[in-house]
Amino acid sequence: MENLSLILDEARKKLEEINSASELGNFYQNYLGKNGKITELLKMMKDIPNEEKKSFGMQVNNIKQEIQLLISNKEKELAKKQIDEKIEKTQLVDLTIPQRTKKGSLHPITIIQNKIIDIFLSMGFTVEDGNEIETEYNNFEAVNVPKNHPARDMQDTFYLDSGQVLKTHTSAAQNRIMKKYGAPLKAIFPGRCFRNEELDASHENTFFQIEGMMIDKDVSVANLIYFMKEMLTNVFGKQINVRLRPGFFPFVEPGFELDISCPYCDGKGCRVCKHSGWIELCPCGMIHPNVLRMGGIDPEKYQGFAFGLGFSRLAMMTYDITEIRLLNSGNIKALSQVRIK
Ligand code: PHE
Repeated sequence: MENLSLILDEARKKLEEINSASELGNFYQNYLGKNGKITELLKMMKDIPNEEKKSFGMQVNNIKQEIQLLISNKEKELAKKQIDEKIEKTQLVDLTIPQRTKKGSLHPITIIQNKIIDIFLSMGFTVEDGNEIETEYNNFEAVNVPKNHPARDMQDTFYLDSGQVLKTHTSAAQNRIMKKYGAPLKAIFPGRCFRNEELDASHENTFFQIEGMMIDKDVSVANLIYFMKEMLTNVFGKQINVRLRPGFFPFVEPGFELDISCPYCDGKGCRVCKHSGWIELCPCGMIHPNVLRMGGIDPEKYQGFAFGLGFSRLAMMTYDITEIRLLNSGNIKALSQVRIK
């Protein structure tokens, strides 16, 4: 019996010194293996006098269980040690460090462009690409602005050595699109435009427009009004009324300035609409017969409307941006203050 408790003490001491799984394996063999100390004790049972058998057996079993428990604890300890060592060696990402990079977002111009594109796509328009560098013909002549026409003055731009220009309006793609599809057609074409401007809070040398064209038999101003109202009602998420005032552009006849009922005060009058209830939004009109003809479309058979919506301005209105130059600035600090509704 004394021996038994010695065995346990010894086992405890030995276990304390064990530092690896292989040492633990040996320890197991030494005690619980086939010829292990405990196994030997159990084998001795047959030589123990009958009256002592029971208590001896119980003691050995207790020790056996105790040693099993010690081994399994040691196993856990070694496994934990192994993980700790691994963590120490590897440079793990510390998930508790506060995030330093901010979540990005689309540019306000991109958001509004995508929104308008989605709306027109749903109304059966195709979306076309325009060039940023255009021929002088496409930018001016093809939209009824011949050389020396005074309208060129308002749309001064970079003239490249090649004779091409940085396009001053998305109307520059009208001719190419008419030639591509012929009539009937329904297309929109967003793009970046460039002009020599006196820069201020609402005029920028680089800005964004979206052009729309619909050409078919019996197209009238009523269709123009319908599509514009539909688009604006979707953009602002509420019923928007429009009105047309006469406006001159050489490529439309008649030409209009389209105003919208102020979406902020619903036409009652506020700071944004300068208390008039209306906001000037975009020029538009019925495509001039000369423009159709130059696009290869017979103006006797087909009519169409066109509009050129400055969506830099629309983005400013939608997101409460008071300074147009902010949109091209790449100033993330300022842009991130834009309230995306
Ligand atoms: N292209 C004109 C501009 O940028 C706008 C416009 C487009 C006017 C289509 C009428 C029809 O000023």
